[in-house]
Amino acid sequence: MRSDYCGDLGVDDVGRKVTLCGWVARRREHGASLAFVDLRDRSGFVQCVVDGAADLRSEYVVRVTGTVRLRPEGTENPALPTGAVEVGQCTVEVLSAAEPPPFPLSEHVDVDENQRLRYRYLDLRRERLQRNLRLRAAVNSAVRTAMERQGFLELETPLLIASTPEGARDFVVPSRLKPGSFYALPQSPQLFKQLSMVGGLDRYYQIARCLRDEDLRADRQFEFSQLDVEASFVDAVDIRRFVTEAVLAAAETVTGERPSFLPDLTWHEAMERFGSDKPDVRFGMELVELTPLFASTTFNAFRAPCVKAIREPQGAVQRSRKQLDDLVEQAKRWGAKGLVWMRVESDGTVASPVAKFLDESELRGIVEATGAEAGDLVLVVADERPLVRHVLGLLRLNLGRPPVNEGGLHFLWVVDFPLFEGIDPETGGPVPAHHPFTMPHPDDLAGLGGPGEPVPPADVLLGARSQAYDLVLNGWELGSGSVRIHRREVQSRIFELLGIGAEEAQRKFGFLLDAFRYGAPPHAGFAFGIDRLVALLAGEENIREVIAFPKTQSGQDPLTNAPGEIDERQLRELGLRVLPRT
Ligand code: AMO
Ligand code: AMP
Repeated sequence: MRSDYCGDLGVDDVGRKVTLCGWVARRREHGASLAFVDLRDRSGFVQCVVDGAADLRSEYVVRVTGTVRLRPEGTENPALPTGAVEVGQCTVEVLSAAEPPPFPLSEHVDVDENQRLRYRYLDLRRERLQRNLRLRAAVNSAVRTAMERQGFLELETPLLIASTPEGARDFVVPSRLKPGSFYALPQSPQLFKQLSMVGGLDRYYQIARCLRDEDLRADRQFEFSQLDVEASFVDAVDIRRFVTEAVLAAAETVTGERPSFLPDLTWHEAMERFGSDKPDVRFGMELVELTPLFASTTFNAFRAPCVKAIREPQGAVQRSRKQLDDLVEQAKRWGAKGLVWMRVESDGTVASPVAKFLDESELRGIVEATGAEAGDLVLVVADERPLVRHVLGLLRLNLGRPPVNEGGLHFLWVVDFPLFEGIDPETGGPVPAHHPFTMPHPDDLAGLGGPGEPVPPADVLLGARSQAYDLVLNGWELGSGSVRIHRREVQSRIFELLGIGAEEAQRKFGFLLDAFRYGAPPHAGFAFGIDRLVALLAGEENIREVIAFPKTQSGQDPLTNAPGEIDERQLRELGLRVLPRT
């Protein structure tokens, strides 16, 4: 139907007769019967000069035949890639008429998101989504190529499965042939990719759809895509190299440059310096250790297991007393008992509501340790170490984090995660930090004991590291992975420590444990969120902007009205009855 795309035309095409297809983006009258029509297709816009365009309205679908010519001098539009030319002597065929769209499709108009999602097919015509979805396709393609170059085999895994252990709620699907029974939709292909290793496939990858029923946020949807990877006879370093290759290939495709990775951070170092296991290293304001300084302080609030501070350069200059009080309230909402703020004055003295409780050497010690200068703001929290890190980590982001599209791309690996996240106060047992197939660090394995042995003390459990690692980009967790347990006695011990009995383990993961009896290779894997990577590469704060048909924050689809009711007959067939809402 056409000879060219609109956005591809340029001075080299002058004199050519072309046929274009697309939508009427804009029409401006030019004298009695002549009009300028901006024609839009996937590639961009071109100006067409049309005689007798009276019946051409916005968003009409047309086919235009005309001749490319230079625009008259002084009428070029340098903002438009095709701005040096226009298509003249046009004949126009209307392929489809259009009602006026419910909102302007121009890039420059802000439209309510609910409207955008209700009419997503119109929103998709706009430049932002066209650009983001092209970028997404380029990322998928680069990632696939990189994995295949490294010898990985693409494998599809089922969507109707038994439950997977990723820690979110399952979406379930009722079975018609076995009423009262349910499939779960996969939270990830985790168990299947491990089975494929037992099956000798050696190197697996998939751009996998995953489904998790969890509270939605800017970086979370019910449905999302992972680059999912698993390989046999490899260690953690090999896996990180494979994945590094894939994300760098994606970044290079988009930006034209290959960013470099920062040095690996251990989880412990990330928590101590940034108060986060997904540090945003685009800015400073690192957490500073002050605990030794207050070892024998008389100020009660600082007589705590841990005292740390952050310094915001020139923060005191910008912030009013009221804003500082708000910070204290914010810190309390995050769990702190309090927050001490300090302002360094131009004469080097320290102003703070608690200055009178601290002695000269303590005040000087804070200034020296934080490197604070006149105008800087210092914020101090004292408490248990995990809480101090948590609160200061959030304050740091709150005060210092640059917008998503600033500061370049800072990829890094966080390694040596703890095996357990904490101790469950109800059961007294450890809470796993990752799924239960994560291999402990070789140096910490012996300390965990073997099947049937007594449970080690809490400090040994909490000090144990795992062979789990996360990929972080600009403060976002892009992905996680681990070396898996392939030895039965180690797996039994971990289940035992987690309070998962042999019967429960068999019921939940029996098929995997059975498979491991028939010769499981050592294996390891990883998965990163494609939506998150694409959002960061596109400079978007919300992954909805890089998904063609996303759900709203409340999990609805205003376009199709999902989720909706199903009729009585369908329910009966499935053996289901809907309870009245309470
Ligand atoms: P994990 O649960 O950490 O690991 O998920 C890996 C990555 O998937 C992305 N992700 C999401 N993206 C959008 N919306 C969501 N609701 C969502 N949930 C997760 C994140 C996350 O880092 N099977 C393991 C991996 C492994 O061990 O191999 C897994 O799924 O970017
Ligand atoms: P209080 O003794 O509770 O009145 O607190 C005196 C000051 O110390 C107030 O400014 C509190 O916000 C602050 N403060 C109290 N507890 C802590 C804490 N654990 N860490 C940091 N500041 C605290």
